[in-house]
Amino acid sequence: MTFTVRKAELHEGHALGQFAEACFRESFGYLFPEEALDLLCSKAFTTPVMEGLIRNGTWIAEGPEGWRGYVALSPDPCPVEGLARPHLELSRLYVPAPWMGQGVSDALMTAFLADARAKGVRGVWLEAFEGNPRALRFYRRWGFKDLAGSVKIREGLHLPHRILASELNG
Ligand SMILES: CC(C)(COP(=O)(O)OP(=O)(O)OC[C@H]1O[C@@H](n2cnc3c(N)ncnc32)[C@H](O)[C@@H]1OP(=O)(O)O)[C@@H](O)C(=O)NCCC(=O)NCCS
Repeated sequence: MTFTVRKAELHEGHALGQFAEACFRESFGYLFPEEALDLLCSKAFTTPVMEGLIRNGTWIAEGPEGWRGYVALSPDPCPVEGLARPHLELSRLYVPAPWMGQGVSDALMTAFLADARAKGVRGVWLEAFEGNPRALRFYRRWGFKDLAGSVKIREGLHLPHRILASELNG
């Protein structure tokens, strides 16, 4: 079944929050005790937070049955020195399990990188959970290189991450 990738619109903050929370719970919910997960979600997926993502730049993959994934950017600088500037962060990329491995994530990455290149961006960085081999392999296939380790603290949990980056040529 075909799908399209388009930019999210500001009025979609609430719907995006619901979709993004479902994606997060599916992918990383297992890491947290239930109460901690509920607390985290009550802060991370509010309409104002999602409207912030949409203002920065968010793309949605959409099929006839509904949304199949999203990708969002952030202007935050890379915490590791040396990545060409200007650069930006790929802050979120989620595809629900039924749509993994079917090119949705590739289409989202293609849209994200095309927009970055069009804006003259020369580097993209991101943080991926160390215990997420599928994502690490996906980013490696897209040319991202491992720069360093980092730790994200979420509701008292210390989660080891890898900082990855890719230089954009042309
Ligand atoms: C990360 C994500 C966007 C990648 O999209 P995807 O459609 O699953 O990616 P693909 O299937 O195209 O590529 C994944 C690669 O990992 C491989 N893979 C699958 N499961 C794996 C596993 N358990 N361990 C290692 N590699 C695995 C696939 O074979 C594929 O390899 P290839 O590139 O050599 O073909 C998607 O899996 C996702 O949304 N995951 C949940 C949320 C998430 O982790 N987001 C990233 C946060 S940084």
